[in-house]
Amino acid sequence: MFPDNTGFGMLQRSVNDFWREYGYHHGSTVLRNHPEVFAIESTNYCNLRCVMCPRGEPDIMERDLGNMSDELFQKILGEVKFYSNPCWFHWFGEPLMHPRLFEQIDYARAQGVSSLGISSNATLLTPERSKAILDSGLNTVMFAIDGTSKEVYEKIRISSTFTFEEVCSNVKEFLSRRKQLGRKRPHTILSIIVMEETKSQIEAFKDEWKRYGADEVIAKPYVNWANQDDQFVDLAVTESREELRQSARKFPCGYLWKSVVIAWDGRVLPCCYDYDATLPLGDLKSQTLQEVWNGEKYQRLRKNESGGCNTTALCRNCNQAPGTAINPLWPLPGPVTNLLKRFTSHS
Ligand SMILES: C[S@@+](CC[C@H](N)C(=O)[O-])C[C@H]1O[C@@H](n2cnc3c(N)ncnc32)[C@H](O)[C@@H]1O
Ligand code: SF4
Repeated sequence: MFPDNTGFGMLQRSVNDFWREYGYHHGSTVLRNHPEVFAIESTNYCNLRCVMCPRGEPDIMERDLGNMSDELFQKILGEVKFYSNPCWFHWFGEPLMHPRLFEQIDYARAQGVSSLGISSNATLLTPERSKAILDSGLNTVMFAIDGTSKEVYEKIRISSTFTFEEVCSNVKEFLSRRKQLGRKRPHTILSIIVMEETKSQIEAFKDEWKRYGADEVIAKPYVNWANQDDQFVDLAVTESREELRQSARKFPCGYLWKSVVIAWDGRVLPCCYDYDATLPLGDLKSQTLQEVWNGEKYQRLRKNESGGCNTTALCRNCNQAPGTAINPLWPLPGPVTNLLKRFTSHS
């Protein structure tokens, strides 16, 4: 279920990586590699209305709200190979709002899955929940706090209930409790998204949270949600807006050969930008992940993406997909392929 850090586990990962690259460069539609599960959405209920999030302000997400059931979560754990480390146990919504979050994480730990992580807005991080997180089998926890000042933070992470001071104090208490207990797990990350509003605070944010004992402090690149709605680009750093609006992606989208996202109701999506599940490729309530990964819908999407004619509403304007120049003779190195091409075109 989870390729571990033994030699055999590492070999399994390398073999999976090999077939992923092979499939990508050869434009395969049926793949020999297993998908990495980038995220399993525990819930899409949220208690903030963040301006950069489709589930935020304005709330443009139209799909139903719900929590992942124990039954579905257990089915998923039974059939997924966890190549992603961490596999995020959130997508949209606030994971600490899920009434059975810690029971489900416990279940995962009992099944030997030690790779789950969550990102939380830390508004509900009471001393009890801090203790539960520290005692849980979570591998990683990320606290998303976008700003070092009340003014900036509360403009971005909108709430009529929670204040900047409360959220910071919750996280500081969590970090100090973790230090007192001498725990190394979960790996604790503080994150700030790089936007016009936050860009002047990034360095101060890093210094401050390192001082309070975060293991890692990251400045997250801004996501424009595949340009599905114009409002998102307007929050990016001013100088980057024109490019985010206009440029097309240069290479096929690597996600289609690499990973999946699973919504709280079991639908499988190609990437985390598909906030409204407009491109469902299968449903784990009735199918296995392997059936979905090599099913007809995924095959058609990969074929169109390789052929440059993926016109789905989700992907047509996306310019933040990962990708590299296609080397049709992979695993031969690119320069060798180019040399051979030149040689054969002259002969
Ligand atoms: C949608 S949130 C859900 C989890 C949780 N409610 C939280 O705020 O961390 C998941 C992650 O997406 C990030 N995020 C939201 N909007 C983003 C954007 N436009 N660009 C980059 N990251 C974004 C958040 O910082 C968070 O780490
Ligand atoms: S092209 Fe963009 S929107 Fe489509 S699957 Fe790839 S990352 Fe997602």
